[in-house]
Amino acid sequence: MKHIKIANTDLQVSNLIMGNMRLNQLSITEAEKLIRTAMDEGINFFDHADIYGQGRCEEIFSQAIQMSPSIREKMVLQSKCGIVTSEGYFDFSKEHILESVDGILKRLNTDYLDILLLHRPDALMEPAEVAEAFSMLHTSGKVKYFGVSNHNPAQIELLQKFVPYKLIINQLQFSIAHTPMIDAGITLNMKKDQAINRDSSILEYCRLHDITIQAWSPFQHGFFEGVFLGDMERFPELNKTIASLAEKYGVTNTAIAVAWITRHPANIQVVLGTTNVQRMQDACKGSDIRLTREEWYRLYKAAGNIIP
Ligand SMILES: NC(=O)c1ccc[n+]([C@@H]2O[C@H](COP(=O)([O-])OP(=O)(O)OC[C@H]3O[C@@H](n4cnc5c(N)ncnc54)[C@H](OP(=O)(O)O)[C@@H]3O)[C@@H](O)[C@H]2O)c1
Repeated sequence: MKHIKIANTDLQVSNLIMGNMRLNQLSITEAEKLIRTAMDEGINFFDHADIYGQGRCEEIFSQAIQMSPSIREKMVLQSKCGIVTSEGYFDFSKEHILESVDGILKRLNTDYLDILLLHRPDALMEPAEVAEAFSMLHTSGKVKYFGVSNHNPAQIELLQKFVPYKLIINQLQFSIAHTPMIDAGITLNMKKDQAINRDSSILEYCRLHDITIQAWSPFQHGFFEGVFLGDMERFPELNKTIASLAEKYGVTNTAIAVAWITRHPANIQVVLGTTNVQRMQDACKGSDIRLTREEWYRLYKAAGNIIP
């Protein structure tokens, strides 16, 4: 398992993350097995959100691992707030952020979060209010570091103008079958859909500002439209190319899908959503495979993209 340092922190972390959004599909015993497998493979970073399973995923996590100070210190725990799923809106108010973190800490059975992310942009955000909430959380020791998810460069700059802590993470959707972050750069200035700059060059912005990118839904296409691995109807070329590289490297297709992301020089972390122990082990084999440039671009083209 490859480890990286998160810029502007003292955190040394695995480049793969165990995502816990689907943990409520498992019993406590199954969840324990999955978490232990991830840790045995070298994963030390766990991603949560207050809304996953309406809080149940965080509870299952801490119960399954029987959270204690000695286990806690082996983990980097990240969670997110700012979405009110029950009503369908976003809330970055000071009250909501503070209340959300208290709930997260209680459910995870811990005194502090290593990282808190704002989950999705709130159009009604008042950055000074967010800054006040972050300062209270940091001063009280409840949160060490802060970041965002699904934010564009201007949204980050607006927040950063007020927040007195460096924003260190941006979690964004990225997989071989979902590549808007790189498409526009590759087809710059062309009259093609692929050339539309949908996120104001967020990848380059994060690299310029030492913000670590985390890729969510590494095996999905569209917005939760399904898994591209094994989908021969929609992704025949991609699956054939993945299979041939899996054979070359002696790993599964899952590992190649992971390796395509970890090959990027931005040191992107991959947030794995699997609930399956075997798939967790397979995915981890992709952590430090270094695809050649030609292989990386071959996969990109096989997903239906053009190289001018
Ligand atoms: N910031 C955000 O807005 C945001 C949004 C979504 C998710 N996330 C984070 O990202 C993590 C990962 O997201 P995700 O769960 O959507 O990602 P994912 O890892 O791409 O998808 C996992 C799902 O795909 C299935 N799957 C994977 N490979 C498969 C295969 N070869 N055949 C059949 N099924 C396969 C898994 O089934 P099995 O369980 O059976 O393996 C699981 O249901 C989440 O846990 C969460 O932490 C963040």
